[in-house]
Amino acid sequence: GKLESRYFYTDSQIAEAFIKPRSKFANKGHFGHALMMAGSYGMIGAAVLSTRACLRSGVGKITVYAPECGYAILQTAIPEAMCLTDANKAFLETLPKLDNYQAIGIGCGIGTAPKTAGLIEEVLKQVKVPIVIDADALNIIASDKKLLALLPKGAVLTPHPKEFQRLIGKKWENDYEKLALLEDFAVSHQCIVCLKGAFTAVALPDGTIHFNSTGNAGMAKGGSGDVLTGMILALLAQGYKPEEAALLGVYEHGLAGDRAAQLKGTTAMIASDIIESIRF
Ligand code: APR
Ligand code: MG
Repeated sequence: GKLESRYFYTDSQIAEAFIKPRSKFANKGHFGHALMMAGSYGMIGAAVLSTRACLRSGVGKITVYAPECGYAILQTAIPEAMCLTDANKAFLETLPKLDNYQAIGIGCGIGTAPKTAGLIEEVLKQVKVPIVIDADALNIIASDKKLLALLPKGAVLTPHPKEFQRLIGKKWENDYEKLALLEDFAVSHQCIVCLKGAFTAVALPDGTIHFNSTGNAGMAKGGSGDVLTGMILALLAQGYKPEEAALLGVYEHGLAGDRAAQLKGTTAMIASDIIESIRF
């Protein structure tokens, strides 16, 4: 048969073709209202970073849902965001109303308290809009087969290698095996998996794998991943298809990282610098 690769490379041409221009007559209603469920005591920074990155990526409105201890921090750090708090002071435990949002992001800095796991289960059961799932939400899902079975089709997952290993419940021997496991997971769950690292590999439900061309080692720092989650959430809320949101989000995140590295250097740059270098 024909020689066809299932491996692709996301360069500027491919990524930029996804970008939808903003209409002159647009209002914020056209760009969606996102819900970011993030943070716990000592990790409110993850909620700040992911929410700010979402705002820098074109979302119309964002509500961040955080434990009570995050309220003053979030309202001060991000005046553009609305803040809704869980009755619990330290971690998320109660499902908020999910109507009225065009996309949901969950996981950044949420921790793995049993009550937070209960909330994740409810979100997976009730979510009717595109969702991006990261960090401890992935760890919670990995710890319970029942939750894994609830993964919505078309969900965007953003694990780093350790988180992906927990999701599949085994270790790989080499990179070929890693890619085979990645493809297998995306096909069998019909979801989009962004396996993060240098050359982040985005696996789609059709079994193709798309390697990213942007990014640098200055991004190997706490908080960089939270920035990506916010960027993908913004694209989902604006109506980008989950595949497009993942590919474009990963590409623009790396590009912002490359701009930050030019300004600050790879050693000095921090996750906040990536956010300030986002340009759409
Ligand atoms: N080259 C290019 N990109 C890189 C490189 C590199 N060498 N190293 C890291 N990155 C990018 C990844 O592609 C990814 O987008 O930086 C981001 C790192 O994301 P995470 O591994 O999720 O790191 P972090 O932001 O620190 O996550 C915050 O959440 O997932 C948990 O346990 C994790 O405590 C951590 C927290
Ligand atoms: Mg992370």
